[in-house]
Amino acid sequence: MDELISRINKADNLESLDKIRVEIFGKKGLITAEFAKLKDIANEEKKEFANNLNKKKDAFNNAISLKKTELENLELLQRMKDEAIDVTMFDEIPSVGALHPVTITMDRIIDYFIAQNFSIENGPLIEDDFHNFEALNLPKYHPARDMQDTFYMNDKRLLRTHTSPVQIRTMQNFKPPIRMIAPGAVFRRDFDLTHTPMFHQVEGLVVEEEDKVSFANLKYILEDFLRYMFGDVKVRFRPSFFPFTEPSTEVDISCIFCKSSGCRICSHTGWLEVLGSGVVDPNVFKFVNYKNVSGYAFGLGVERFAMLLHGVPDLRSLFEGDLRLLEQFK
Ligand code: PHE
Repeated sequence: MDELISRINKADNLESLDKIRVEIFGKKGLITAEFAKLKDIANEEKKEFANNLNKKKDAFNNAISLKKTELENLELLQRMKDEAIDVTMFDEIPSVGALHPVTITMDRIIDYFIAQNFSIENGPLIEDDFHNFEALNLPKYHPARDMQDTFYMNDKRLLRTHTSPVQIRTMQNFKPPIRMIAPGAVFRRDFDLTHTPMFHQVEGLVVEEEDKVSFANLKYILEDFLRYMFGDVKVRFRPSFFPFTEPSTEVDISCIFCKSSGCRICSHTGWLEVLGSGVVDPNVFKFVNYKNVSGYAFGLGVERFAMLLHGVPDLRSLFEGDLRLLEQFK
């Protein structure tokens, strides 16, 4: 008995403890065998024998259950040690996605104009000749159509070459005053360092009754917008030509890379061209039956802004889906 109890106390794991338990209480166990003897014992001795046996049984049970609790606690402690998570340990952070630089730039542009009370308008990517050209004062066979190499689907349908047709659609659908921007994709047959066949523009159009808006308003908002986008830059309005605006200007900012001292990116001019704009040509208003109104319009290339803001040297890389580029925008 003592030997068994000391074996119980020395058991160092649950498995060996259970083996000892079987030796004592199992079918062929010690206590089981002792109880079997009861039937051969004389009646007057039976009671004492049984009492002793029960005491032994309790002693074993106690020893076993004490040891069992102890071993279970030890096992739990060990498991907590083994499975502990060190929250201070460095692990690779699961990779998260990021917005595309063109989206980031587009959002920033849109934010500015929403704050200036512009609405956002949309038009179809597949346009007709009337909205993309004709109503913008670009008659058929007019040489100015060459400014934009067009993807034609058939005689009537084409992929819009600029967001300017949304000017026409908005004026057809609403009465003045109008204060809108139209962000979206446009398409041109062009492919080199600074051109991709699909890119994005943001168009702007403001129309008011009588002569309420002028070139001065255009100048003010574009200067304010360009400083919001590029910081403390100089803004220059250069005479240009668009069939749908008169007068027309292209807008430059002082080169943000060389601070106007001349570099490769600004072709050593100190200026970067960023926008087309002008006062809405009266002919355009005729096409949408607007009378006694004044307005200005502008259009910009979102990829060009993204390239300048983020120093992307090749426009095409924006559309190659190369993770090495995209990961820099997390
Ligand atoms: N639609 C012109 C372009 O794509 C930009 C522009 C828009 C110019 C509005 C003047 C006014 O080049």
